[in-house]
Amino acid sequence: MSDGPDAIPAGDLPLSAQAPGKCIVFGEHAVVHGGPELLFAIDLATQVIVRRAPRSSLNGDPEAAGEHPYFRALLRQAWAGPADLEVRAISRIPRGAGLGSSAALCAALSCAVSARGGGVPRADLAQRSFEVEKAAQGVGSPGDTSAAVAGGFLTVNAARTGLALWEVHDGAARWEVRRLPDPGWVWVVAHSGVPRSTGDAVRAVGSRLRAADGPALLAEFRRVAEEGIDAVEAGDRAAVGRLMRRNHELLREVGVSHPRLEELLRAAEPLSEGAKLTGAGAGGSIVALPRPGSETELVRRLARAGALPFVVRPATAGASLVAPP
Ligand code: MEV
Repeated sequence: MSDGPDAIPAGDLPLSAQAPGKCIVFGEHAVVHGGPELLFAIDLATQVIVRRAPRSSLNGDPEAAGEHPYFRALLRQAWAGPADLEVRAISRIPRGAGLGSSAALCAALSCAVSARGGGVPRADLAQRSFEVEKAAQGVGSPGDTSAAVAGGFLTVNAARTGLALWEVHDGAARWEVRRLPDPGWVWVVAHSGVPRSTGDAVRAVGSRLRAADGPALLAEFRRVAEEGIDAVEAGDRAAVGRLMRRNHELLREVGVSHPRLEELLRAAEPLSEGAKLTGAGAGGSIVALPRPGSETELVRRLARAGALPFVVRPATAGASLVAPP
């Protein structure tokens, strides 16, 4: 049953749903281990169209039901039948770029099948979307899927401020998700084009944090994210930039930077308050907070440095049912 004004309503197939990608400003990786995170949903989305069919398929490929990790996880975790599902997915989020394309796919698919199941409160959709992503990836936190479900600016594990939205759990682990006001800034993201696996990066950081200095590193991740969240709330762009640079040093220390990301960060430096890798790293993207008025020149510089840059703004809407195209 759905409830509340913001719930996903009941619907019958065929259904179409969309969900946004995300950009992490502070706290990726540490969030998996209970640290605070700040992220926002971006104005690039994935849309799915879901129909009954004699045989399940994703974008015309029936093998995907057994082989595509996220589609297979959805069919196992979230779809109780009675029919097979034909899914078409159209995404504007670059894949493998650290911008939440898999979380958006999980949230959009979970939204459509939950509507078919009678509707769902948004908090339950956040839990379901995380379960699908976790089943596919094997590791991770519910930050990305919560951004895809909630939209807007969010914190995870930062109970000092913001409006409580929901808690997502996984066995004994619990993550609290809260909404913050959008500071109204424009951000620049640049995709390096270097592919990577979120699961592999998360596992590698997990082993690194089991070393003797792991607890001290985690404490520093926590301090930087907490101060970063305070700086965003205070509208202090210079402090946000400084803390983004410090967050990146920590991510480099736990082994998830990449020579291409370092080049892009050097290119962004003169025109940014601060910049860092965003997402799992080891490839993927950087995010920069441009100096006011430098957005276009920063995009040009990053393109000249060989990246796929774009300006992103927070998307207010989270996962929702939409009219089929
Ligand atoms: C990936 O976008 C963010 C990580 O923190 C993993 C996760 O939270 O699931 C690296």
